[in-house]
Amino acid sequence: MSKIAISLTVNGALEQVLVEPREQLADLLRGGLLLTGTHVGCEHGVCGACTVEIDGVPVRSCITHAGSCDGAAVRTIEGFGDDAVMAALREAFAREHALQCGYCTPGMLVAARDVVLRLPDADEARVREEMAGNLCRCTGYRGIVRAVLSVLAAARDVVLRLPDADEARVREEMAGNLCRCTGYRGIVRAVLSVLAARQRATASE
Ligand code: FES
Ligand code: FES
Repeated sequence: MSKIAISLTVNGALEQVLVEPREQLADLLRGGLLLTGTHVGCEHGVCGACTVEIDGVPVRSCITHAGSCDGAAVRTIEGFGDDAVMAALREAFAREHALQCGYCTPGMLVAARDVVLRLPDADEARVREEMAGNLCRCTGYRGIVRAVLSVLAAARDVVLRLPDADEARVREEMAGNLCRCTGYRGIVRAVLSVLAARQRATASE
């Protein structure tokens, strides 16, 4: 069967590739582009290990035909290196023991970042519901839920009370929370990212 020519951006880089008609995005990412941070578990859309972002929305790359991604912007776990919310989540996952073998973790983090940006006022029940599509065989989920809730809690007060806050105001508001490790820049960037996502969501309502 003849291959399909597609062009897409992956983690900001333009990729022009030939794919099989039945080739899944996960296989293109891992086998073709060597982005092995995207893991494959069930291969039929159940476990969430293969979750990546397409055009800003989390999707299961094991059941997404690569050919359907022509023109799309794909972001894998490797593409979140300078993302402030992801940095806050990585730190929280480590602190809260939210991973053991780590196989589910890339997909968990992509899904968790979406929850933080989309639902700044989510409570534990909502976090559990939103994360229910990502399975973990090791942790029992409690650490994962605590990690997501801790990032939400850090941003929540400012985001809900001051939806238009700028960086100076965020720094002022967060001044009562001291951190001995980070130097605050990542924390401030994380809060500003959540605020920006909230503002975009409000503007599109
Ligand atoms: S590998 Fe894609 S959902 Fe399980
Ligand atoms: S940490 Fe092992 S599957 Fe989640």
